[in-house]
This record gives sequence, C-alpha cells and structure tokens, in this order.
Amino acid sequence: MIRLPFRLQSGAIWQCLSIAVRFRSSPHVNDREAPRVVTPRVLCPISDPMHWPQVKFPRSGKNGNRIMPIEANSTTKSALTYTRNSRFGRTGQPKTERYGRQKKFAVNRKKQSVNRKNDEILRTNRRAYDAMADAKNPLCQPATQSELSDPMATIDSTGWLGESIVGARVLCLAAGGGRHSALYSAAGADVTVVDLSPAMLELDRQVAAERRFKVRIIETSMEDLSMFRPAEFDIVVQPVSTCYVPDIRVVYEQVARVLRGGGVYTSQHKSPVSLQASLDPAPDNRSPSGVSYGLLHPYYRDSPVPASPSPSTAAGRLRESGAIEFLHRWEQMIGGLCRSGFAIEDLVEPVHAKRDSETGSFAHRAQFIAPYVRIKARRLGDPPSLGENGGSTKTAILMP
Ligand SMILES: C[S@@+](CC[C@H](N)C(=O)[O-])C[C@H]1O[C@@H](n2cnc3c(N)ncnc32)[C@H](O)[C@@H]1O
Repeated sequence: MIRLPFRLQSGAIWQCLSIAVRFRSSPHVNDREAPRVVTPRVLCPISDPMHWPQVKFPRSGKNGNRIMPIEANSTTKSALTYTRNSRFGRTGQPKTERYGRQKKFAVNRKKQSVNRKNDEILRTNRRAYDAMADAKNPLCQPATQSELSDPMATIDSTGWLGESIVGARVLCLAAGGGRHSALYSAAGADVTVVDLSPAMLELDRQVAAERRFKVRIIETSMEDLSMFRPAEFDIVVQPVSTCYVPDIRVVYEQVARVLRGGGVYTSQHKSPVSLQASLDPAPDNRSPSGVSYGLLHPYYRDSPVPASPSPSTAAGRLRESGAIEFLHRWEQMIGGLCRSGFAIEDLVEPVHAKRDSETGSFAHRAQFIAPYVRIKARRLGDPPSLGENGGSTKTAILMP
C-alpha cells in the first residue's frame, strides 16, 4: 500500500526528467516532420521456437518508420524497449542523430521519399512471395534430408567458401524459405536469415524448430540492414533477389557495411539479357534451330521489366508471377560491387542448358541465354585478407 504510490511517484518523476532531457537534447522535438528511427522487426532471435512470435506484416508509418520491432514473447511496447536497449538500437536514439542537423534532415527527406516509392514495390513483392510460399512453389521448398546430410556440397559447389564454415557468422540475405538457413546451419555456421516475406520466414522458423537449429530470423528489406552492427558477418550469401529492388547500389552498400573486411559476399542474380528476352521461342528461319528468343525490353531502363503473360513452365521458372522486377545492367552489378568496396574474385554462369531439351522448356531457353550469374566478391578493408588475388585492390574479374 505504501510502496505503490511511491513507485508511481518515482515513475512520474522519471518520466518528467526523461521528457525534459529529450526536449533539450533532441532537435526533433519541435519539428513535426522529423523522422524517427527505422527499426527492424526482430522476429525470432532466440532458440526456443515455442516462444516465437506471430508473424505480422511490417507497416508503413508516418515519418518513414516502416517496421516495428517485435521480440519473442513480447508486446510491441516492450519490444521497443528491448530494441532500444539492445545491440539493435544501442544508444536508444535515432541513428540519424549522429549526423549534423542539416545533413540529417536532407538524408531523412531522401530516405522518406525513397521509402514511399519503395513501399508499393515491397508490398507487392511480399505479397507475391507470401502467395508462392502458400502455394508451395519450388523456390519455397526447404532443404531436403539428403541435402542436409552433406550441406557444403549443396551450398558451395564452386568451392568459394573453403573447406569449412563452422562457426562463421553467415547472413543469408533475402533467402527465406527454409533452405539456406537450414543448409548453412547444418554446415555449422551461426546463421541469420533476412527476408521480406513473413511466409517465407515462417518456413525458416518451422525448419529450425523441427531440426533444432538456432537461427536468427529477421523480417526486413535487403535495402535496410541497419539492425546489424558494422562488420557483424564473415559471409553474406544472397540467392537471386536483387531483381526485386530498383537500386542495387543500396543493397551493396548495406552488405558492405555489415560484412567484415576480408569477408565473402556470394550473390546470384538474374542475367540482364534473360530479363530482356522473350520467355517463349518464336519461329525464326534465320536461326539454325528454327526458333529464337527475341529481345523484348530495352537494356537501359529504370522502370520494372514488364511481367510476362506466358503460362509456360519456363516462364514460371524465369519470372515470379505477381512480383515487380528490375533489370540491373552489368555495369551496375559488377561495377557497383567494385564501387561499394568489394573485389570480385570469381564469376560463374550456372549451366542450365540441356542439349536435347524440348523447345520452349527452361533448359532449351538456357541454351540461348544463361538465366543467372553468380558472383564471388570479397570485402576490401580491415583485416586486409584479400584472398587469392594477392591482396590487390584492383578488381579481378576471373571468368570460369
Ligand atoms: C528466389 S527467393 C530466394 C530464396 C529461395 N528459398 C531459394 O531457394 O532460392 C527470393 C527471396 O527474396 C525475397 N525478397 C524479395 N524482395 C525482397 C526485399 N526487398 N528484401 C528482402 N527480401 C526480399 C523474397 O521474399 C524471397 O524469399
């Protein structure tokens, strides 16, 4: 009876003090346009799957505060407290407060307008992948038992990651679906998986729970990895997904920040010409095979690549129905990596072509157009372990 009012009193005093301190210290207080920190939703940072939270959509809020943090077993309010006191928000202050006032507002205005434009793209692509996960699309299939029994053979057929990744801190970026997180966990890595789609991440959660893998699962866009510390990862692995963002530079900058110097970034992308070309063959008597896949879409473009109306199986493997996709030119894909502080160590075009494949099939089209390109890049900087290219800061593009 006596302690309750005392607690209330001290709580009220504390509130007043903190408001006063904030009022003095935060230049945002009098500015209604001032942005708030963009905080990530940390869905499953813990190992006890029984207490993982319900998957909810990140939401757009005013001032570009797009994503609310949620920790397992917590309400939004306590999750916010958690985030502010944790390494995901170490200072408890908006990240932008580190900048000077002018620069801060300019940066934030730009961020807000990018956010607004991006929101529709994010929503659409999230919907597309949620639907694909529900429909058990092949891209949403968790790793199989046989793959998990020799995970390195599956995840590193090119030998880019060395003999062992045991204990490596791996970020599986835009890699929901229960495949990458499971395979890298089975290989002994300390895995974080990031994705935009709650349904894809739900598959990661399920697989981790079934197999007792400890996986950190985070729902955010690949364009915003601000919840991670600088140099937090040794390896970043990204399956085909940069096509879902308009500006690939943003992704590279984010990866460059969270990957330690000397760390490896492997990424797979849709090849630009594959996005330009028709998904179906057309009769063409100029071609020895009697068919060709014409170039339909211009190479230089900022707008998304138009969706294909084709119902063919090849089309289903080449373009994701309902998703918004962008073509990134070679200069943006490769030059962008170099300009973001990476050295390119290798590049392969996985072969999907099959000699006697049926005309119009995925494998037939792949005889004409390599659908994907896979790139191994190493983060330059400290520590200066620049790998096999002898520590040169010059970019080496080694063709297989
Ligand atoms: C081709 S799937 C990759 C994972 C798939 N399980 C596989 O086996 O390759 C591409 C993933 O990118 C995700 N994605 C799309 N846009 C994204 C964005 N802006 N940020 C993060 N993830 C995104 C999708 O939700 C999807 O899970």
